Amino acid sequence: MVRRPAGHAICAAAARQGTLRVGMATIAFGADHGGFELKALLLAAAEKLGHPTLDLGTHGPAAVDYPDVARAVCAAIGEGRAACGVLVCGTGVGISMAANRFRHIRCALAHDATTARLTRLHNDANVLALGARVIGPQVALDCLEAWLATPFEGGRHAARVAKLSDL
Ligand code: RB5
Repeated sequence: MVRRPAGHAICAAAARQGTLRVGMATIAFGADHGGFELKALLLAAAEKLGHPTLDLGTHGPAAVDYPDVARAVCAAIGEGRAACGVLVCGTGVGISMAANRFRHIRCALAHDATTARLTRLHNDANVLALGARVIGPQVALDCLEAWLATPFEGGRHAARVAKLSDL
């Protein structure tokens, strides 16, 4: 049996949709001071699942501004250095707002694995945002695993997702 890394689904979806870079399974991670510990945990989990990762900081408790972190992760995706991204701040709200300012980004804030899964299935989310002060580490890990393992369903959702680019 061929054991594929969990990101296979997201990358296969990318290939079909042309929304993520084909053949790029690298995940860019970013967090502000409210989320750096959870980010480290998630990054380690992603690597354990076989993913190449890109750690764009921050690495400690010193305050940084979440728009700057979001910009770094979104730029990595835009430039093809990563296929998708994971962003963490205190609530996940500010950093997801910032990420969604970028036209090539569909960032979804999730608080549970079902939502995380559906953001791939229906919305073809290419960035997952999580709030370290809102959900526990196990829920965050569940969200990440569900998100990485789920492909975009396409079909009736494809036109809706395409319309996001027209806004
Ligand atoms: C930082 O204190 C905090 O505001 C930030 O992590 C995030 O929760 C913003 O949405």
